Amino acid sequence: MKIWIINGPNLNLLGKREPEIYGSKSFLDYFEELKELFPFVDLHYFQSNHEGAIIDHLQSIGFGKSDGLVFNPAAYTHTSIAIGDCLAAIKLPCVEVHISDIYQRESFRHQSYVKKYSIQSIVGQGLDGYRQAVEILLSEVEK
Ligand code: DQA
Repeated sequence: MKIWIINGPNLNLLGKREPEIYGSKSFLDYFEELKELFPFVDLHYFQSNHEGAIIDHLQSIGFGKSDGLVFNPAAYTHTSIAIGDCLAAIKLPCVEVHISDIYQRESFRHQSYVKKYSIQSIVGQGLDGYRQAVEILLSEVEK
């Protein structure tokens, strides 16, 4: 089972960025914990601050090349029709994750262009949302 975790812009700053909202752990440290939790899953991680780089990466892992996607497009969630179109094209089971609860924040964060293409959306669970998303993808495969 090959699962990609993709994080969008500014999520390379986790641990340093607004820790009162996003916590104090870096994603790379958390990713090591996730790999230990799921030793039987082929977990991969990609982060970019660039919309086009995220789209190029999504295209390269879609169309049967991977089994699932845990996706936090960060601010592009709320703006990127291009990323939504890409998810529609690549046919890769996706779980949308947001560390904070986007629906309890500013109204511009309530719009998600990826929700429609996701099996489920996890919001406001902190980094644990990524673990929950992997569990969801694993249970999808068992169906
Ligand atoms: C975020 C929420 C977005 O609104 C924000 O732009 C982010 C992070 C989250 O994980 O809570 O960068 O996706």
